[in-house]
This record gives sequence, structure tokens and C-alpha cells, in this order.
Amino acid sequence: HAANGSHGLLSGKKVVVTAGGTIERIDPVRYITNDSSGKMGFAIAKAAKELGAEVHLIAAHTDEAPPEGIETERVESAEDMYQAVLRAFPDSDIVVKAAAVADYRPREAASSKIKKRGDTMTLELVKTTDILENLGRRKTTQFLIGFAAETDSVEQYAREKLKRKNCDLLVANDVTAAGAGFGTDTNLVQIYDAEGLVERLPLMSKEEVGRRLLTLAAERLSGRFS
Ligand code: CTP
Ligand code: CA
Repeated sequence: HAANGSHGLLSGKKVVVTAGGTIERIDPVRYITNDSSGKMGFAIAKAAKELGAEVHLIAAHTDEAPPEGIETERVESAEDMYQAVLRAFPDSDIVVKAAAVADYRPREAASSKIKKRGDTMTLELVKTTDILENLGRRKTTQFLIGFAAETDSVEQYAREKLKRKNCDLLVANDVTAAGAGFGTDTNLVQIYDAEGLVERLPLMSKEEVGRRLLTLAAERLSGRFS
């Protein structure tokens, strides 16, 4: 570890990572979710631990086993995740929002199984809280890292999201690129800050992306105090 000189870069730092796709209940046996595998968030949590941080992982739906030796809090919905993140936020140094949070949820979750009736049925959805945007308004010393999964106009959306959500860094990936996005072990990302593109990383493992991203964050965090 010590050989590469990066071990301990985040020692004494508290890193909160969110991962996976939220589950929004329709009734006790049905829900809405998305294709997030949780792999990117888990890889970031592992990388943070390797760099010496105290890691708190907040995980929504995923088929992956959470990384060993990392404090993991399981959540279901966007609202649950929001509450968990808010509790962890005041004490954190870096927050990485890799989770795929539902933008809308059913207006109400039925308490018993919805029965089949007419030929069509309408489900009314209401917007969830944008957790990252909320953190962006609350942050004091916390270093905020957001994600943006896009299928087109990657740079334009990334820069717009970074500003709107007041992030320190934003990781954008084109989920349509080969070897990138949901479910894969590799990712192809571009990292932005308020000035624009910081780094365009080649296709690499999600753990390598995590290490590179957190190394950047650590450098920028230490730069604030030197
Ligand atoms: N995010 C969040 N809370 C939400 C929705 C998104 O915290 N309710 C976070 C994600 O975790 C991610 C970032 O915001 O870090 C960007 O998510 P994304 O879905 O790409 O952006 P949206 O603002 O939801 O815009 P859209 O889905 O329309 O592209
Ligand atoms: Ca979204």
C-alpha cells in the first residue's frame, strides 16, 4: 500500500458514499426502480477506505454484496436515502452521490396489494427531493461530488448540473458508451468542476475511477487549508 505514496491521503477524513438505485413502492409487492447496479458507489467506498478514510456507505437497491469492512446503511426509497444522508452530512468531509435516485415516486404507496380492475390504470407520480441539490444549499465545509449519467449532450448537462447542485466536482458518464454505465465493472468518465473539464479518464475499472476521483478531492480539500 504505502509503496504508491497515496495510502493515508484521506486518513482522518469522513467520507459518505451513496450507491444503488432507490426503490419507490407502489404497493407491498410492487415497486419502481432503475438499472443502477451499485458497483460505482461500492468501488468508491472501497477506494476511500484504501486511502485511509472513515467510510459510511448508504446503499439502496443493488444485487452486489456491499464491500466488506465498510459500515453500510441500507435504505429503500429516495426519502429514506435523503434522511440517512442528512444525518451523516454535518459530520462528513466528502460526500459522493453515486446513487441513482428516483426523480419521481408514486403519490402514495398502497398499504395492500392493488387489485386488477379496468383495461388501463394510471399511477400518479410526484417529484422526490433532489438530495444533492439540497446538500449543495446546506454545505459549509463539505466537499460535494455529484454524478450525471447521460445518453447525449454529456458536457452541457454535466456543467448545468454541477452549477445547479453546487457541487465541487461532477462525474459525468455517457451510459451508452461501450464498457461504461450501469452494471459494468468499468467506466468511461469525465470529471468537471465549476471552471469546466478537469479530466477525461480513459476506460478503467470502477475502482480505479474511485481512486482517481478521491485523490483529486483529497488534493483539493488539502489545498483549501494550505
Ligand atoms: N440526485 C439526487 N436526488 C435526486 C435525483 C438525483 O441526489 N432526487 C443526484 C444523483 O445522485 C446524482 C446527481 O443528482 O449525483 C445527478 O443525477 P441525475 O439523475 O443525472 O440528474 P437529475 O438532476 O435528476 O436530472 P435528469 O435525471 O433529468 O437528467
Ligand atoms: Ca434523475
